[in-house]
Amino acid sequence: MTKVICFANNKGGSGKSTTCASIAYAFATAGKRVLLIDGDMQLNLTLSYFSEDKALEIASGDKNLYMAIKEQKPLTDYIYQTDYEGVDIIPSSTLMSSVEFELFSKWQREFILRKMLKPVIESAVYDYVLIDAPPTLGCWVMNILCASDRIVLPVEASPWGLFGLANMFEFIGQVQELSPTLELLGVAVTKVDARKNYFKQTMETLRETEGIRVFDSVIHLDSSVEWAQDNSKPVGSYKKSSRRALEYKALADEILEIY
Ligand SMILES: Nc1ncnc2c1ncn2[C@@H]1O[C@H](COP(=O)(O)OP(=O)(O)O)[C@@H](O)[C@H]1O
Ligand SMILES: [Mg+2]
Repeated sequence: MTKVICFANNKGGSGKSTTCASIAYAFATAGKRVLLIDGDMQLNLTLSYFSEDKALEIASGDKNLYMAIKEQKPLTDYIYQTDYEGVDIIPSSTLMSSVEFELFSKWQREFILRKMLKPVIESAVYDYVLIDAPPTLGCWVMNILCASDRIVLPVEASPWGLFGLANMFEFIGQVQELSPTLELLGVAVTKVDARKNYFKQTMETLRETEGIRVFDSVIHLDSSVEWAQDNSKPVGSYKKSSRRALEYKALADEILEIY
C-alpha cells in the first residue's frame, strides 16, 4: 500500500520543503520508492532535485502539477525521474499562484488532488508519496491534506515558530471532518540553533501539548543545508556524513518505524 504523507505548516520558513526533500532521499537510501509532489509555487522542492534552469523550463511547460490540476488529469502522466534511484517527482509551477482560482469552480473541490492521485496509488509503484505544502490554509492545502494519510508538521525552534500552531491544529481538525482517516504523524523541530537555549523551551512547550507526538530527532541550523540547496541536491546526498544528513536520516528512521 502506498502511504501518503504531507509536510504542512502555514508558517513560512519552518523547514517544510527542506524536510520533505531530505526525508525523500533518506527513505530512498533505506530502499523505499518515493514520489515527491511539489505543491508550492515557490518550486523549492523541485529545486532540491533539479537545477534552476530545468525547474523553470518545467514550470513554464505543460507537464507540471499546475497543468495536471487545470486539466484534472491522472498524476501518473506528470512524473519525472530524478538523478536518485527511488525518488521521482511531480514538479510545481509558478502558475500555482492561481490554483485557488482553478479549484474554486470545480465539483467537490477539496478532493481534486485525491482523485488525481488515485491512479498513482493503485499502480502500487511507490511505497510513499510525500507532498510539500505551501504556507497557506486555503482550499489547495485542504486538497493536500485530504489526499494525505498523515501529516508531518515541521516547526522552527523559535518563538514565532510556535505562534500560530493552534491555527494549524484547528485547520487539521476541520479537514479531519472531511477526511476522518487523516492523522498528525508528528511535529519535527527544525532549524535549531545550538547556541541558544530557546530550543529547550520549544521542546518543553511542544511536549506539554496534549495529543501530539514530537519526534526525538531534531534538525540543527547549518550552512550545509543552504550549500546543498544551492547545488540542487537533497541534504543527505550533498555531504553524506554531515551532521545534518545524519539528523535527517535519524528523523526518517523514526518516521519509518511508526508509519
Ligand atoms: N537546518 C537548516 N539549517 C540552515 N538553514 C535551513 C535549515 N533548514 C531550512 N533552512 C533554510 O530556511 C529557509 C526555509 O526553509 P524551507 O525548507 O524552505 O521552509 P518552508 O518550506 O517551510 O518555507 C530556507 O532558506 C532554507 O535554506
Ligand atoms: Mg516550502
